[in-house]
Amino acid sequence: MRMYEIIEKKRDGFELSLDEINFFITEYCNNSIPDYQAAALLMAIFLRGMNERETADLTNVMANSGDRIDLSSIAGIKVDKHSTGGVGDKTTLILAPIVAACGIPVAKMSGRGLGHTGGTIDKLESIPGFNTSLSTEQFIDNVKSIGISIAGQTGNLAPADKKLYALRDVTATVNNTSLIASSIMSKKLASGADRIVLDVKTGSGAFMKTFEDSVELAKTMVKIGKNTGRKTIAVVTDMDIPLGFAVGNSLEIIEVIDTLKSKGPEDLKVVSFELAARMLELSGIGNIDECRARVSNAVESGKALSKFAELIENQGGNKDVINDSTLFPQPAYKLDFICEKPGYIQFMKTDQIGIASLVLGAGRETKESKIDYSAGIMFNKKTGDRVEAGESVAVLYTNREETLLHAVSLLKEAVVISELPHERKPLILAYID
Ligand code: URA
Repeated sequence: MRMYEIIEKKRDGFELSLDEINFFITEYCNNSIPDYQAAALLMAIFLRGMNERETADLTNVMANSGDRIDLSSIAGIKVDKHSTGGVGDKTTLILAPIVAACGIPVAKMSGRGLGHTGGTIDKLESIPGFNTSLSTEQFIDNVKSIGISIAGQTGNLAPADKKLYALRDVTATVNNTSLIASSIMSKKLASGADRIVLDVKTGSGAFMKTFEDSVELAKTMVKIGKNTGRKTIAVVTDMDIPLGFAVGNSLEIIEVIDTLKSKGPEDLKVVSFELAARMLELSGIGNIDECRARVSNAVESGKALSKFAELIENQGGNKDVINDSTLFPQPAYKLDFICEKPGYIQFMKTDQIGIASLVLGAGRETKESKIDYSAGIMFNKKTGDRVEAGESVAVLYTNREETLLHAVSLLKEAVVISELPHERKPLILAYID
């Protein structure tokens, strides 16, 4: 088999066989296929697409490219959750302690920031001392002892995805249904959960910008999950606006803590609580209304916040951050982003807001960049809100003073103001099961 012929076949719009997909993934992981040929095939897939069978084969081959985690020694049904990525998306850190506080084990492997989107692991690492690099044994032991663990993906979990994602990131081949579905589902299959809740983001801050594309992605992933024996559902949620007010690692953790104390932003609460309820429902402990009531109760009773404190302590972090936000790394510089004219915020180019936060230091410019955990943006106003000239729309935080003007210029383009009032869209747009 020759890689040249596989590229040619897909370039001309033909279907790839399981053997060809297997050859590509195996040889690329062995470094026998160079990046330029892999990139050419990715672009051919991006332009020509893959059918359902090819997408399922690609997912399974990638899931088998490394270790598969066996969670069977943990009692009960393990429900995983995955978001397709967004800006200010900190839902995992709210729903995971809620679900664990309701008695359902949470064994969650998460990723780092990608492009304009933030990552759960970077956010957790902003908590002084928090260790996300656990061995599989430690990870499983933590879930057995306190019902929850959140860790970075071990090096050998779907390594094919790791290699391919890095290449897609720099070859403009991320936003393709088959490539995103196989990337996400290969990791979910390899990480061993019995059931999966997917949060498929849609809008300017998501990889899928249109509702139709997001529904197609959701349906593709749900089908892959079901065909591999894992009950899977997807919730399509709005990402045309940052979720909550905070964008940036420690700022987001502070907002998570506020939400677990019932003092968080309403949009963040609605999406996180609904995803938590769907996880509980999938675990079989009740119907959706009972599960929603359990979620509210876990927060109102303080049990979810205590579970979050237990998680922090168990993974070496300083749990005092829960009552003292000055224990987080502090930024040296802050600047208000001031509105120049009165009106209503009509639209927020949310991916650009993610990039502004990255420029301030909250994300990585290159794989080697070091994150500034204190950097980010705290919004005072969002889409639909009235703003007056001279009013602060957001506050920017950083340790790199030289980044402030660039970030402000990005925000000027990203926050679109008009004279007409504008209503916000609903947050939960569709359920796919
Ligand atoms: N998240 C992933 O893990 N993979 C993608 O391709 C896109 C978002």
